[in-house]
Amino acid sequence: MRILILGGTRFLGRATARLAVEQGHEVTCAARGVSGVVPPGARFVPVDRDDPEALIPLADEGFDAVVDVTRQVSHARHALSALADHVDHWSFVSTISVYADNTTPGQTAADAPVLPGAPADVDGPVGPDNRWYGECKVSIEQAVRERMGVDRSFICRAGLIVGAEDPSDRFPYWVRRLSAGGEVLAPGRPTDRVQFVDVADLAGWLLHAAGADLNGTYDGIGPAVTRADLLAGVVAGLDVPEPVLTWVDQEFLVSHDVREWSGERALPLWVRLPESGGLMDRDARPALDAGLTVRPLVDTVRATASWMAAQPADVRQGGLDPADEAAALREWQAVRDR
Ligand SMILES: NC(=O)c1ccc[n+]([C@@H]2O[C@H](COP(=O)([O-])OP(=O)(O)OC[C@H]3O[C@@H](n4cnc5c(N)ncnc54)[C@H](OP(=O)(O)O)[C@@H]3O)[C@@H](O)[C@H]2O)c1
Repeated sequence: MRILILGGTRFLGRATARLAVEQGHEVTCAARGVSGVVPPGARFVPVDRDDPEALIPLADEGFDAVVDVTRQVSHARHALSALADHVDHWSFVSTISVYADNTTPGQTAADAPVLPGAPADVDGPVGPDNRWYGECKVSIEQAVRERMGVDRSFICRAGLIVGAEDPSDRFPYWVRRLSAGGEVLAPGRPTDRVQFVDVADLAGWLLHAAGADLNGTYDGIGPAVTRADLLAGVVAGLDVPEPVLTWVDQEFLVSHDVREWSGERALPLWVRLPESGGLMDRDARPALDAGLTVRPLVDTVRATASWMAAQPADVRQGGLDPADEAAALREWQAVRDR
């Protein structure tokens, strides 16, 4: 296939370009080149999508498939207007942040209500908390369906993406923490559900969708696992000694300013339950039935760890630092001994 990736200079877009090259496709990546470089074997076309006409020169080339990862509504609209008539299949990487209900577990893309689209004066996520992120993705989904038609478009609502080149430092936190050993603060309960998708599996599914003409709207996530199985899988992938896991009650964590999900003082991949139970426990069956394959967790861990090992020493971006973790564990112990 002739594939155009709108992006391709980091994480998922780059993994998709890399895999597409490996599979023998002719791959073009259009981006500014600010975030990184495209993988070897892919053609890089420098483009700034802030310019509404930037993609027009690519239209005459014609492509079998486009993969777009954008969060900017105008970027998506301009790309569709330039390219839709010259492309057979359009995949858009959306997000489970489009959903209106983050509480109910077991939802699917077919039945879950979504947020309204972004207001007319909002083009992309705003500020450190990414305000309007979900709404912008909803607007882009609508634009893709309208312009390409539902029979030529694949909307992939990704859940938490993990694996090599992850810029978010969420999954890497656990790789680093469990490598370090000692007493490990494990949030919540061992049976709490955690859900993610390996970046290479998601890339493979995007290419499968393009090749098999898969259309429609799906969540891009693997089956949920328990937090105990997640941590055990990380340990197995790293081949390190069994750590001492101390499970700490979520209300204690909240009251001690240990934060959820990502960022400073956060325990990544942890969200409060039941309030956010829908975020980490969606029904993966439709995706699996539609061709998403899921590699063993140990493979994800090994890929992440070997990428981390090749990075400059300190790539930490948030997470609970060791001193804060030790303090929280001491205070938890004191509460339990009372
Ligand atoms: N990470 C997760 O856990 C997660 C979860 C759910 C959904 N998602 C979604 O998954 C997708 C991930 O995409 P990704 O990993 O490839 O990373 P990304 O950060 O979304 O990449 C953005 C891409 O767009 C390009 N870009 C940005 N501004 C541009 C401009 N003005 N002109 C041209 N190109 C521009 C960037 O390249 P240059 O900067 O080089 O131009 C980069 O290649 C995103 O859509 C995200 O919303 C992610």
